[in-house]
Amino acid sequence: MEKWPPSRSKAKAKANHERNPLMQTGPSPTPMKLPSFFEEDRLAVDAQLQTLLPAESAQPPSIHTAMRYSVFAGGKRIRPMLCLEAARIFTPDVAPALYPGCAIEFIHTYSLIHDDLPALDNDDLRRGKPTCHKKYGEATAILAGDALLTLAFETIAATPVSADLRVAMVTEISTAAGTVNGMVGGQVADLEAEGRAVGPETLEYIHRSKTAALIRASIAAGALCAGAPADDVARLRRFGETIGWAFQVTDDILDVTESSAALGKTAGKDIAQQKATYPAVFGLERSQQIAKELAGKAIAELAPYDERASRLRTIAEFLVLRRT
Ligand code: FPP
Ligand code: MG
Repeated sequence: MEKWPPSRSKAKAKANHERNPLMQTGPSPTPMKLPSFFEEDRLAVDAQLQTLLPAESAQPPSIHTAMRYSVFAGGKRIRPMLCLEAARIFTPDVAPALYPGCAIEFIHTYSLIHDDLPALDNDDLRRGKPTCHKKYGEATAILAGDALLTLAFETIAATPVSADLRVAMVTEISTAAGTVNGMVGGQVADLEAEGRAVGPETLEYIHRSKTAALIRASIAAGALCAGAPADDVARLRRFGETIGWAFQVTDDILDVTESSAALGKTAGKDIAQQKATYPAVFGLERSQQIAKELAGKAIAELAPYDERASRLRTIAEFLVLRRT
């Protein structure tokens, strides 16, 4: 019987290690050339988002126009890609995973619309365009966020898998978006930390709740949707939480190192708003090291899947090497 995980030769392991951009030292890397599956996934996700969102002409058109404006403003679709690629470890038919993937993209988009509101981060620019409230007014932006959050759960309920799996995905995703170690809780802590000196523990709590929880849920929901065994879902949750944390550390770094034009949002705002960030607490260089260490730790969780997780590994590397 074939042994699982299959043993890998030392030479192959060494070659993999040397190929891993996270193991390279030296100056900041040039942007990664993204493999073609990124584009395939993105197209599949965009087509599904088009199907799931009400038409602009549906009554009342103003809200549907605003929802579509923010969903199609040029996001990278990282969360749905993670969902699809986690499912691919367990099944070649990843089409059902488009549903939880798109649901999470709706939640992510709602969170950005609300984050940009004057009462929160008060930003005029997102993905290189006017923010939702700048374009359509505050009332419509608040309601577009509410509508996307609601549509997310309608979408999970429509996933073509068993009712048990749909309930498991609702639990996974609602917890991650909620208040206890979830996105809303992290957002509250982020706002309350503004202008205050915070230590590493608070910073870790903010990043893991505000950002890592939803990224973790993207990966866990993909695995659940594909019928993965509980041990694998737990392993992928650990991968997701750690790579999500590395993702937010990288986001903090990019706010310092990149321009508004490159990021499509106002760069340098974290310092201006005295946000609790990794560069503020640890300095830029140590933060870069932390992001790499976290990504390395996350990727190590994928070892049992060998080649089956190669796409997920590539996305994980991209998340900390990206420039936008
Ligand atoms: C950028 O993602 C987003 C983050 C780094 C997450 C920040 C967290 C919040 C804004 C939470 C807000 C919560 C509430 C409840 C208001 P990305 O780089 O994937 O963005 P993209 O989709 O534009 O590519
Ligand atoms: Mg914010």
